[in-house]
Amino acid sequence: MTNTARPVHNPSMPNLLPDIVSADLFTKLAQPTLTAEDGLTLRPWVHGDAPAVRIAYQDPEIQAWHCRSIDTEEEAHQFIDRWRTGWREAAAAQWAVVDGEQVVGRVGFRYMAPAEGEAEVAYWTMPGHRGQRIAPRALTTLIAWAFDDIGFHRLALVHSVRNSASCRVAQATGFTLEGTQRSACAHTDGWHDMHLHALINPR
Ligand SMILES: CC(C)(COP(=O)(O)OP(=O)(O)OC[C@H]1O[C@@H](n2cnc3c(N)ncnc32)[C@H](O)[C@@H]1OP(=O)(O)O)[C@@H](O)C(=O)NCCC(=O)NCCS
Repeated sequence: MTNTARPVHNPSMPNLLPDIVSADLFTKLAQPTLTAEDGLTLRPWVHGDAPAVRIAYQDPEIQAWHCRSIDTEEEAHQFIDRWRTGWREAAAAQWAVVDGEQVVGRVGFRYMAPAEGEAEVAYWTMPGHRGQRIAPRALTTLIAWAFDDIGFHRLALVHSVRNSASCRVAQATGFTLEGTQRSACAHTDGWHDMHLHALINPR
């Protein structure tokens, strides 16, 4: 996660560049289902996933790195609503990573700025399913879609320097480490330095 400040895109001011990615791709089209390697599928979150989302955010690792808990299914439903709204507003995009019917993870863009051609990825894997390359497989699929089908130019990936498992995901999916943001993100145990990784669309 990051707190990188971004300039606000103001549609009422003359822009010398065309939008890199049209927001219509999100606001006017349905969120697609994407097929990943080895039987994994990325599909939009549905309200039936609320029990899995609550279990995920009861996990101490997810709480530590994503700085939130979800204690009731009602809160999980609200969270799923926010994830679905993010797509309709072209502000974020979240997928459930499923193996058959089972939710095994989450991947998506916690932030995206289509006009600037940039998005920031986020992910977690359900406790009990880690160490099976679920996050890298899902993220590889998301990257291919974002670059080839949507036309994003740059994807950022930001994690605490103390989260070595997340750094391994960044390395496994081809992100380049661009630097360390000092004391950049508050966690429940204080401020953490953050690794900024990025991947540029090769096209
Ligand atoms: C980080 C995370 C998404 C990785 O997902 P994953 O599907 O387990 O990914 P991988 O299988 O490629 O494992 C990545 C690394 O996790 C570590 N790992 C392996 N097995 C593990 C296990 N059973 N439990 C925890 N970590 C494990 C290893 O360091 C591995 O690196 P390696 O490729 O050098 O072996 C997952 O550990 C997770 O959900 N953590 C909690 C939430 C989080 O950190 N989100 C990211 C915030 S930026």
